[in-house]
Amino acid sequence: MGEKAKLSFSDKEYELDLTVGTENEKALNIHELRNHTGLVTLDESFANTAACRSAITYLDGERGILRYRGYPIEELATRSRFVEVAYLLMYGDLPTPKQLNSFSGHLNLSSLIHEDMRHFFLAFPNYAHPMGLLTTMVASLATFYPVQEDLSEEEEKQVISNLVSQVRTIAAFSYKKFVGEPVVYPSHKLRFVENFLNMMFSSPVKNYQQDPDIVKAIDTFLILHADHEQNCSTSTVRLVGSSLSNVYAVISAGIAALWGRRHGGANQEVISMLTRILDSGDDGGRFIEDAKNKRARLMGFGHRIYKTFDPRAKILKELCHKLLIKPGMTNPMFDIALRLEDKALHDDYFLSRNLYPNVDFYSGLILKAANIPYDMFTVLFAIGRTPGWLAHWREMRHSENYRIARPRQIYVGPALRDYIPMDKRPAMSGTTIVRRSPVSERISNSMLEKTSDIDDNDTTRFA
Ligand code: ACO
Repeated sequence: MGEKAKLSFSDKEYELDLTVGTENEKALNIHELRNHTGLVTLDESFANTAACRSAITYLDGERGILRYRGYPIEELATRSRFVEVAYLLMYGDLPTPKQLNSFSGHLNLSSLIHEDMRHFFLAFPNYAHPMGLLTTMVASLATFYPVQEDLSEEEEKQVISNLVSQVRTIAAFSYKKFVGEPVVYPSHKLRFVENFLNMMFSSPVKNYQQDPDIVKAIDTFLILHADHEQNCSTSTVRLVGSSLSNVYAVISAGIAALWGRRHGGANQEVISMLTRILDSGDDGGRFIEDAKNKRARLMGFGHRIYKTFDPRAKILKELCHKLLIKPGMTNPMFDIALRLEDKALHDDYFLSRNLYPNVDFYSGLILKAANIPYDMFTVLFAIGRTPGWLAHWREMRHSENYRIARPRQIYVGPALRDYIPMDKRPAMSGTTIVRRSPVSERISNSMLEKTSDIDDNDTTRFA
């Protein structure tokens, strides 16, 4: 008999099973809770809820541990390449040379996108955020590469190669659209990261010179971002995938979730925070005080799971140092970043709340040193995370408990009330709120102000 937990409610006692993971982490199994007690659980933002069993990634936030399929992230980051890690996440073991060769070959063959898709790029506005392009283009792969609902093993392999490889191609094409240059096609002669950098930075008038330190830094960045168990975007992938939706749409949903600044957008926010601090002449001290007084948020600090240190931040901090001492690479932002880190790590506000630098604190600096444009930071995160999303999608498809995800809620709205006919409803004054984001700032004012042209008293248009 396994261990049980007891719940007493309404003068009755219930026993609940405990589910125990590989590392002895225990979960109350509430599978039968509603059937037996009529109760549901309330866990807003899922901070205490394990949504699935997974054999992909182990994460211990208290001890700063991250492992993919049992291998410590520190070893994978120093000894493996991204493509090898992608294979590991997907199929459970490190590949043999033959398996790696075959996987790389598939990625190469899948790297082109249908030529007609390039026409889409032309239709987007020049100010389009590359994450907007990526979400849309990845969803549109569903129309160019239609797949059956029940994929054979071979079809599944093809879909995985397409996505891992084509997300990278679309990302580079989005950048070319952004800078108004012709696209550079993928090359079968280059490895994954070199290929990406070549598609980004080569042009008909300039051959891109690969720098092995930059290649290593980007490859490590991708490895460190490849999976992070049930984070916001991966949970989105599982949730959308559970409805048996098209796999390209599923990954597009993951990309959309990643876009937010509390998730993948954070490294971009770190650079914009450092730029603001630098421009204001502050040495970081004033900003730290603002963060403590809730007037600002120290971006790149804090994590929902890591409460002592983020092991990925440790690896990137070292790489960041190495990169930034290269000739011509020094960056005043890095000095500010180190000063902020030092101040925060000696300040009771941050220590008492377990706020430590997360991976984004350093990844933004690394990407900046590699000349990756600011708007592309989250796109690179998406390239790295695609194998992780697909590994979870694949694990879910092949699991026994593959049911549509459908959480419950606690309803707190009005109780039953009588319908009010239109002529009896009290007059209400409506307000249209338009919130501006950095991207929307670039959109012409006239577009945003169209909302104010609406006459609130003109009911005919809503007939
Ligand atoms: N700067 C200042 N104060 C902070 C910060 C921060 N970065 N993060 C949390 N706090 C404070 C909160 O104000 C709160 O203070 P209080 O107890 O006085 O109310 C306390 O710390 C707890 O904060 P929560 O928001 O409850 O922490 P949560 O675990 O929900 O949030 C999160 C985690 C979203 C990552 C948050 O720390 C944050 O916004 N950090 C900055 C953004 C960031 O770097 N995100 C990247 C995450 S990593 C990734 O996605 C790869």
